Amino acid sequence: MSPNTQHDSDIKTKSDSEEDAAIVDPQCIPGNPTKISFADITSAAFKIKFGITNTPCIKSHLSNLTGMDIYLKKDFLQFTGSFKERGACYALLMLPEENKRNGVISASLGNHALALSYHGKRLNIPVTVVMPNVAPIMKVQACKQYGAEVIVMGNDMKEAKRLAMNLAKERNLSYINGYDHPHIIAGQGTLGLEIVEQVSNIDAIVVPVGGGGLIAGVALAVKTLHPSIKIIGVESDRCSSFSAAISANEPVEVEIKSTLADGLAVPTVGYNAFATAAPLIDKMVVVKEEWIAIAILRLVELEKCVVEGAGASGLAAILAGQLPELKGKKVVLPLCGGNIDTTILGRCLERGLAVDGRLIKFCVTVSDRPGGIADLCRLVSTTGVSIKDIIHERAWITSHVFSVQVTVVCETMNMEHANQLKKVLNENYNAVVFGELMNVVEV
Ligand SMILES: Cc1ncc(COP(=O)(O)O)c(C=O)c1O
Repeated sequence: MSPNTQHDSDIKTKSDSEEDAAIVDPQCIPGNPTKISFADITSAAFKIKFGITNTPCIKSHLSNLTGMDIYLKKDFLQFTGSFKERGACYALLMLPEENKRNGVISASLGNHALALSYHGKRLNIPVTVVMPNVAPIMKVQACKQYGAEVIVMGNDMKEAKRLAMNLAKERNLSYINGYDHPHIIAGQGTLGLEIVEQVSNIDAIVVPVGGGGLIAGVALAVKTLHPSIKIIGVESDRCSSFSAAISANEPVEVEIKSTLADGLAVPTVGYNAFATAAPLIDKMVVVKEEWIAIAILRLVELEKCVVEGAGASGLAAILAGQLPELKGKKVVLPLCGGNIDTTILGRCLERGLAVDGRLIKFCVTVSDRPGGIADLCRLVSTTGVSIKDIIHERAWITSHVFSVQVTVVCETMNMEHANQLKKVLNENYNAVVFGELMNVVEV
């Protein structure tokens, strides 16, 4: 790197951090966090009673599959599809009258923006939301429909937040951080209050963690009333900022990679959230993306629940075998959001089926003489496997000219059935190549 280039990047870094320092949110001060109190949560519960839904928390069909007594808190049934309404509704209600008139602004990947937009309209408070360009399209559209001013800008939450903070200053709007404003954390805590009212003798609650507002509120509510209930936090391995904060003993910035759990993709956890939650959390786990896809599939198939990646990550940790200590225990999973793009849902379902061995792909070279492909199809049909897609290739292959390469996608009942097909194909053809996920072990 030339000295000149170095100098340029130096200046850029400096001006960015100077700008960040100049726009510190007065509600979320790095070195001086506010710890939320239990009374804040009970006040929130009282105030938002008629604004949000007390969602069901019921026994799940997943209990057999997981070996745990699982209860699902179905907060994706809130009007805008996530628990974020709890905090947003409370934060809006608690604004002084003048701030209500001027309006509010926030940066959000989606669910907080939706919640603010909807409750802002309901309470007649103008709302502006800045959403980074990675925010799911359906969430952007829905915010517009609720009547908010939506600005899609910035490559990530950090950039969107910087813009929103600047706009807050310029337009005299109140900035409401979606995971760290004290009223947001208190509002999210009402989910914990509801859970302990709905289910008795709980052993553990497994909570998805983004900026940390949800786990902070839930942990405080639950541990105050029932200190023995374990609070376990879950993050995607593509945005594990809370685990990094625990290791560093303070919020630190981590690199965010695109994830199915888009709602959890926060580079630095909240200062108030961290100060409130860290002493109350019993364990943090970090899950891999494929388990989130499988959890989404299981929730659709076994529970008829459409849940987004962030909301399904608690179940993902259990299915991945990362919480073996919960076997035989009574466990509550907050399904905290259902806002998933239909195309992403389709991809998750297919990926989940592939990992299960229920959707498999193989490639085989067969004779190009009449009947060559028919023989292959007949052989597949003897196993009871159903062909979904078949493509044949004659030109771009190196085997002799009287051969054709066939790629087949098919549906099986389970991994055992897939292995049966694999065996039959290997016995009858040379060099059958199976799609990589065929090797993943049974769930
Ligand atoms: C569906 C869903 N679950 C969990 C979370 C995590 O909440 P928090 O950022 O308060 O940790 C979010 C955050 O947006 C979310 O949208």
